Amino acid sequence: MDLRDKVAIVTGASRGIGAAIAAELAMEGCHVVLAARNEERTLALAERLHQLHGVRTLALAVDIADPGAVTAMVERAVTEFGGVDLLINNAGMGIYGSIDEVKMADLRHVFDVNFFGAIQAMQAVVPTMRRRGGGVIVNISSIVGKFASPLGGGYTATKFALEGASAAARAELKRDRIKVIIVRPGLTETEFSQNARVSVPGAEHRQGERHAPMRGISAEKVARRTVRAIQHEERTVYITWFDRLLVFGSQLLPGLFAWGLVWAAAIRRKRFEEAR
Ligand SMILES: NC(=O)c1ccc[n+]([C@@H]2O[C@H](COP(=O)([O-])OP(=O)(O)OC[C@H]3O[C@@H](n4cnc5c(N)ncnc54)[C@H](OP(=O)(O)O)[C@@H]3O)[C@@H](O)[C@H]2O)c1
Repeated sequence: MDLRDKVAIVTGASRGIGAAIAAELAMEGCHVVLAARNEERTLALAERLHQLHGVRTLALAVDIADPGAVTAMVERAVTEFGGVDLLINNAGMGIYGSIDEVKMADLRHVFDVNFFGAIQAMQAVVPTMRRRGGGVIVNISSIVGKFASPLGGGYTATKFALEGASAAARAELKRDRIKVIIVRPGLTETEFSQNARVSVPGAEHRQGERHAPMRGISAEKVARRTVRAIQHEERTVYITWFDRLLVFGSQLLPGLFAWGLVWAAAIRRKRFEEAR
């Protein structure tokens, strides 16, 4: 897809991967609606992208967990820009806690943001995309949309759900020339862990921790790869070869991988218990 003069909605555009995708799209000449709860940040970024790239931008305060707000976001974009060509479902949050202990209210909230918010946004944009003869929906999943992350199972469940819905929607919307792209980043250096919900006592230490003995990649790298995938209308996107290898490894050698997960669960549970 040629992005010049297209109209995109990016959810979770106040920071991290969403802000980087909004910037990358603007650089390609795309008009951008930046949606998140923190209006101060989206307004500042919208203004900067307009100044830098001359594209039209609009900042909207949206809680993606609120279905009415999501519908209003799309209606406003259509009123301001005449339609929507691209939806980037990026808004998301983590949750820390084991499945046997995680609070149901916390789990429902994370599903409201990561899964139901994304589906609601898809339902809201499809009519305008149909009227325009097509479009692209990008759902930001994760490598843990394909394998479990012990003591973060609530989060992985939201991404598994998003993967399933995205694959179905891809088939259903093909006749409308609406493409659905799944992006599976691995560990990325953002404020993600600080903003994750701590659902069991002892899990607080995971906020701000690096989840692996290596540094994550930058949000800009994820954004550049995502925008390239839109331009080339790819289906499923990994950012690094290591991420791809992990996912394929988990599918090729499930027994070995399951053993690794038991080991990871034991280490994380020990840390939780020490922190209690
Ligand atoms: N960081 C990683 O390692 C990683 C890896 C794989 C996938 N991902 C996925 O990448 C996406 C972006 O995460 P990130 O790493 O950039 O995290 P982040 O820095 O915490 O950014 C999350 C974004 O989502 C928005 N958001 C959260 N809850 C929201 C709500 N209720 N309504 C509207 N917006 C909301 C936040 O904005 P406000 O707080 O202003 O609302 C923020 O803009 C998520 O879907 C995440 O699951 C991240």
